[in-house]
Amino acid sequence: MGIQIAPSILTADFLNLSSELERIKSADLVHVDVMDNQFVTNLTIGPMVVERIVKEGPLPVDAHLMIADADRWAPQYAEMGCASVTFHAEAAIAPVKLARELRALGSKAALALRPGTDIAPYVDLLPEFDMILLMTVEPGFGGQKFLDVVLPKIERTRAAIAASGLEVRLQIDGGVSVETIERASAAGADVFVAGSAVYNAEDAAAEIATLRELARNSHRH
Ligand code: DX5
Ligand code: ZN
Repeated sequence: MGIQIAPSILTADFLNLSSELERIKSADLVHVDVMDNQFVTNLTIGPMVVERIVKEGPLPVDAHLMIADADRWAPQYAEMGCASVTFHAEAAIAPVKLARELRALGSKAALALRPGTDIAPYVDLLPEFDMILLMTVEPGFGGQKFLDVVLPKIERTRAAIAASGLEVRLQIDGGVSVETIERASAAGADVFVAGSAVYNAEDAAAEIATLRELARNSHRH
């Protein structure tokens, strides 16, 4: 499985979403951050806007749900055609049931962990997921500093995936830039979300290409 770059539209101009999506069309996925002002102290967009991005946008949608009661609210994102739906371990009562529901609806299922949530209790659940997302900032806002303290967890998670023999992707999200992507890739991440690094760049396509190149060259898994 190759490296994937998934720009987050959190730092995009929300008044001009279609042109902002065009700027990143050389990426692999578009990462869409859904926040409900309960699970995190920020509020973004919900199903109506995400569905428009699924239908009209140039890229498969990687939906990152930072919402409470994921068991109840996540399936509609699979139903509307998101390529993958990521819910937080801290926000789901029945992660296995929910992951199975998402897959049955035709979407990939992914489990997200905040920086302080350990991977150990979830290792046995790897067969239920297509991707694990390790947050490298506390979720809620773009433009925060990459948390190097998460690197050992990236390594442990990569080792657990390798030991399982499964094709599970390992995504990181938060503070990804040309300064940080190499060490995250060396630790074992293979899907990289980058919001401010891509959208604040003069040339978003060039930034995506640079990030991809750096991640590829430092990946050793
Ligand atoms: C933060 C979001 C991220 C955010 C990343 O809670 O989940 O996807 O957009 O932004 P940067 O890349 O600026 O840290
Ligand atoms: Zn995100």
